Amino acid sequence: MAAFAPPPGTADIFPAESGSWRFLENTAAKVFSAYGYGELRTPIFEYTEVFQRGLGGETEVVQKEMYTFEDRGGRSLTLRPEGTAGVMRALTNTDVANGTEQRVFYYGPMFRGERPSAGRRRQFHQIGVENVGRCAALIDAECIAMLHNFLISAGITGAVFTINTRGVAADRAPAEAVLREYFSKHINEMCPDCRTRLERNIWRILDCKQECCQPIIDSAPSYLDSFSEESKAYFEEVKAALTRLNVPFKVSSRLVRGLDYYVHTVFEVTHDALGEQIAIAGGGRYELFLPGEKRPLPGVGFATGVERLLMVREALNAPVPDAAKADCYLIGLGAAARMENLILADTLRKAGKNIALELEERSFKAQMRAANRSQAAYTLIRGESEMEQHIAIVKKMDDGSQCEVADKDLEKYLLEHI
Ligand code: HAM
Repeated sequence: MAAFAPPPGTADIFPAESGSWRFLENTAAKVFSAYGYGELRTPIFEYTEVFQRGLGGETEVVQKEMYTFEDRGGRSLTLRPEGTAGVMRALTNTDVANGTEQRVFYYGPMFRGERPSAGRRRQFHQIGVENVGRCAALIDAECIAMLHNFLISAGITGAVFTINTRGVAADRAPAEAVLREYFSKHINEMCPDCRTRLERNIWRILDCKQECCQPIIDSAPSYLDSFSEESKAYFEEVKAALTRLNVPFKVSSRLVRGLDYYVHTVFEVTHDALGEQIAIAGGGRYELFLPGEKRPLPGVGFATGVERLLMVREALNAPVPDAAKADCYLIGLGAAARMENLILADTLRKAGKNIALELEERSFKAQMRAANRSQAAYTLIRGESEMEQHIAIVKKMDDGSQCEVADKDLEKYLLEHI
């Protein structure tokens, strides 16, 4: 049979791994709900303008990475490349526009047409949060501290938090002037992408990864000095709160983040296990204009990459949650025994027991092997002679002890013992 691989940059998640996925999702739900967040599920595709307008037409994601198609009526739809824009679109239908704070979290697949590599997928999964409707430094600090708390609860120690401020719209022009004056002097020594960025989006020069650009970027003058006093004070308040909350962080003026919607605080989290180039989480404060809305909505949030969190957990040898083990394995020899076992399994499963059983004709030896593999604590055996005597044998697997139980008492016995 031909081997069918999933499309490049996608993957199947088999039951052996999905326990770890569920562990992360459950941990997130538990930690986030302690901060008052509730789950929001939005569609996996949206009208394209939700992302174009939300993320900014100049961003790499919008320009190069979106999976866009037309519906039957000719409207342009896009598979969501991230969660924030869709969440904001959904929340405009609530009373958030009147200043009521909304705290939501989400998890699910996101789609970006990137070149696949280790930790970079075309369908990847995020666990994220958005706190929408308000703007305050302490809200940003609380959000970053919650991410820190989530990572620790998920068994991820040693994460490195880097933060920066992007100021507000009015801070950008003077800061860009400082950067432009400096970089235009050095642009001939820089990579071709940076030459384009100088004209189109000078901030993106700061996160260029090309070797030749590093010394030039490292010596760039600080643009923070040209930010307003309010913006500087806002950032100071975020840093002071994080220190009081015991969240270790470093500050880097090179952190600008790839999406256009950010203002004030931005942050990214990396881990030595994956290196500095691969972020396990990123986020910040933003203002998002949505189609039909005149005023932008303020918010702060982050998203973690689930595949990357799992890679770190593996590198740290974090304990993998136990796969669900059967409480009892039912062995049946002969059609009548198998039918009785199927009915018994149905009753026990409805009572919440985890039951595995063989429903095809197989030898006793093969069924016993399967029972051992299932790691069930008990095995029930019903062969032809047990059927004739209206009994079953119940075997305790750890010490091999066994007893005969009459059919009429079987259900009660198993519910009490397994
Ligand atoms: P982002 O930095 O584009 O931010 O993505 C967040 C995280 O998603 C990254 O740190 C990374 O772990 C993961 N990720 C991104 N692209 C891929 C990929 N191709 N393969 C695997 N993992 C990936 C956002 O998406 C913002 N919406 C975060 C946010 C929420 N900002 C405010 N609120």
